[in-house]
Amino acid sequence: MASKVVDIHTHVYPPQYVSILKSRSKVPYVRDTTPGQPSRLIILPGEDDPSSETTAKGRPIGPEYYDIAKKIEFMDTHGIDISVISLANPWLDFLDRDEAKGLARDVNDAINSMCDAHPGRLFAFGALPLSAPSEVIVEEIHRLPTLKYTRGIIMGTSGLGNGLDDPELDPVYQALEEENMTIFLHPHYGLPKEVFGPRAAYYGHVLPLALGFPLETTIAVTRMILSGVFDRFPKLNVLLAHSGGTLPFLAGRLESCILHDAHYSGPAAKVESRRSVWDILKTNILLDAVVYSELGVRAAATASGADRVLFGTDHPFFPPLEPAEGEEQEQKWLSVTTNYKAIREAFGPEKEQAEAVLGGNAIRLLRLTTD
Ligand code: URA
Ligand code: ZN
Repeated sequence: MASKVVDIHTHVYPPQYVSILKSRSKVPYVRDTTPGQPSRLIILPGEDDPSSETTAKGRPIGPEYYDIAKKIEFMDTHGIDISVISLANPWLDFLDRDEAKGLARDVNDAINSMCDAHPGRLFAFGALPLSAPSEVIVEEIHRLPTLKYTRGIIMGTSGLGNGLDDPELDPVYQALEEENMTIFLHPHYGLPKEVFGPRAAYYGHVLPLALGFPLETTIAVTRMILSGVFDRFPKLNVLLAHSGGTLPFLAGRLESCILHDAHYSGPAAKVESRRSVWDILKTNILLDAVVYSELGVRAAATASGADRVLFGTDHPFFPPLEPAEGEEQEQKWLSVTTNYKAIREAFGPEKEQAEAVLGGNAIRLLRLTTD
């Protein structure tokens, strides 16, 4: 029997979330900008800055963002058996503290119901009401196991507002560890726009998406490591988007900087029981394979082990561009075929490792069965 293909990085906005985006006038929002053209989804910080000369204000939003039937169609076109769907950025981060609890429940229930409508095809990462008090967040985490298809939560890098090394997050990490809910850590905020310089607007979304996103993830998880989150919660599982940003490449430098820092590792630092970056990478971290190159997949597999790297697509982001006049639209998305090829080439004759990355690892690590 052919082994299963599982996509663990694939997003959806349930209809009630889209309604909220449509009712807003500040980022994030959905807006009809040009008559006769699809609405646009404007979610990234600064994306609607009126002083910017960019033409890249948001992206068109069609049913592939909210209609689960389109997800199943996409899966069938690309040979994907199972998808672990998650709310897309910016999740519930922008909500007032009073709204967050109710919408977290609604969104988590809605996404779980989408899974229920396609048994065997869909599982889910929930979302947390991070702007609510921590008891409310913890309560929602303890409710997640009652949702049959939910195996973890997706979140960004801001935590309760002070990042993921905030000690106030300990009850949240503790509840996630207790419930065996994997954190899918995903970027949204990027880097301050100044680092991309005054010509950035001419480059569309290339700089924030190709570099801002992965560096944001790298910094966030590094802050978790440095603050001892994985020492305090040794069973916490964190799935890093985009193959861990640059963490696999920079782990050696990070470990070396730690060992050579008198303030951090010296006699006064009280971190003698500190776990190494390498140990955490192989024990707590999972890496998606959404990196679009053989080199990136090999780095991920070398850092965390080929048994901890998981195929993903980032659907519905990165659709093919509109074809030139007279040319036909490709059925298969280049963003997906590139990742399939990268996995095949990274493992060459080690076909079982490629199969594990394509699906077996996700089924085992995220418990993708319902009996
Ligand atoms: N752009 C986003 O805003 N989110 C993604 O997940 C991918 C691209
Ligand atoms: Zn994504």
